[in-house]
Amino acid sequence: MENNRIATLTLDDGRSIELPVMSGTLGADVLDLRNLQKLGMYTYDPAFFSTASCASQITYIDGDAGLLYYRGYPIEQLAKGSDFLETCYLLLHGELPTSRQLAEFNLKVKRHSMVHDQLARFYNGFRRDAHPMAVMVGVVGALSAFYHDSLDITNPEHREISALRLIAKVPTIAAMSYKYNIGEPFMFPRNSFSYVENFMYMMFGTPCEEYVPNPKLVRALERIFILHADHEQNASTSTVRLAGSSGANPFACVASGIAALWGPAHGGANEAVLKMLHEIGDISHVDEFMKGVKEKKYRLMGFGHRVYKNMDPRASVMRDTCYEVLQELKLENDPLFKMALQLEQIALQDPYFIERKLYPNVDFYSGIVLRALGIPTNMFTVIFAVGRTIGWISQWNEMIADKEQKIGRPRQLYIGATKRDYVPMQGRDK
Ligand code: CMC
Repeated sequence: MENNRIATLTLDDGRSIELPVMSGTLGADVLDLRNLQKLGMYTYDPAFFSTASCASQITYIDGDAGLLYYRGYPIEQLAKGSDFLETCYLLLHGELPTSRQLAEFNLKVKRHSMVHDQLARFYNGFRRDAHPMAVMVGVVGALSAFYHDSLDITNPEHREISALRLIAKVPTIAAMSYKYNIGEPFMFPRNSFSYVENFMYMMFGTPCEEYVPNPKLVRALERIFILHADHEQNASTSTVRLAGSSGANPFACVASGIAALWGPAHGGANEAVLKMLHEIGDISHVDEFMKGVKEKKYRLMGFGHRVYKNMDPRASVMRDTCYEVLQELKLENDPLFKMALQLEQIALQDPYFIERKLYPNVDFYSGIVLRALGIPTNMFTVIFAVGRTIGWISQWNEMIADKEQKIGRPRQLYIGATKRDYVPMQGRDK
């Protein structure tokens, strides 16, 4: 990070301060504001529109150009050529693995895929109709109660084993939350399957019959996991980093990330897309629905993005996958899918969306693909969480390994009451 350029900030009272300009390897330069507090001032940027919260080597996004790189590799190349565990290795370790490194990593992940038998009892404490994300927040957080042997976050080996445990166990916990919800027995992981096949087996298999994965559908889910694996400093990742900055253990931090992901403006969007399609109900209601969107009565879910103002590169990959899956399952004429594609076409041509740079995001298509795969709507955000776990843990690991890391502590612009004296109850009741 070079910082040989300087910006000077001068206030109307004549005070001034020099702010170094920092350049990364790609992307916009940033002003180093750390010295600003010496003037007794802070910056005000509530939704972090203009604030870089950290320096990171993991993921690069150019929202205007529609670029997403993991460790320098374009997402389209990874979605086409890589598989999810190789992508996990890349995100965690910074380089693509050799065949031997990948085989070892695969083996380690597989060896950690079962959960402690006692953990299964947690599920009984939840109502059967509990939202699976509520179960995920609780059960993933509870992992910290089971793996005391690896909670020294200053020890890189402990961090590595916690990362492996999270990558391996989150799919098992996710599938268990589904099985609990529908009242079917939990399926133990099967190590002869690949990571994604195994997840589908734990979701859809039963002890009564053989489960035979469909390679095209496995590949579609693999793509969903790869596309969702990391997305630099988004809301849930920033939550994981902030929780982790206090020294909290990685299982608790990832649980906090799952909680942040749940919201409809973030990971809940693909679920919201399907809810919206059900509410529209019929292709004949699409025009009226779009009128309401433009009158700002509600939003077109699965459209727009805080960072991508051109095209979400993940959406292009997911769109192709979406068409492949619908074709494979002969669902092209399904009324709900037809309606979704009609919405997409209208929005892509409508000036309201074009002027505001609102394009379909990855969740518009991933919601459709997940439904076609037979995954119920309330599991959509859980699937996102399974894919994003590697991003959270890689970002957490990077932060803890950084010698300059300190507890995160934003400041505020106070706009409440100025000092006033306490009034006893008799004085207030008059
Ligand atoms: N439908 C209709 N209008 C919209 C939409 C939408 N989906 N998104 C933004 N707008 C309008 C908004 O009303 C505003 O209009 P105006 O300029 O006239 O006031 C303008 O576009 C800018 O909106 P904004 O809220 O300032 O944009 P933002 O960058 O803060 O919000 C967003 C980004 C993703 C929260 C928003 O686009 C949205 O709510 N989209 C729907 C939810 C969704 O699909 N979220 C998934 C994001 S991708 C998953 C992930 O990476 O986590």
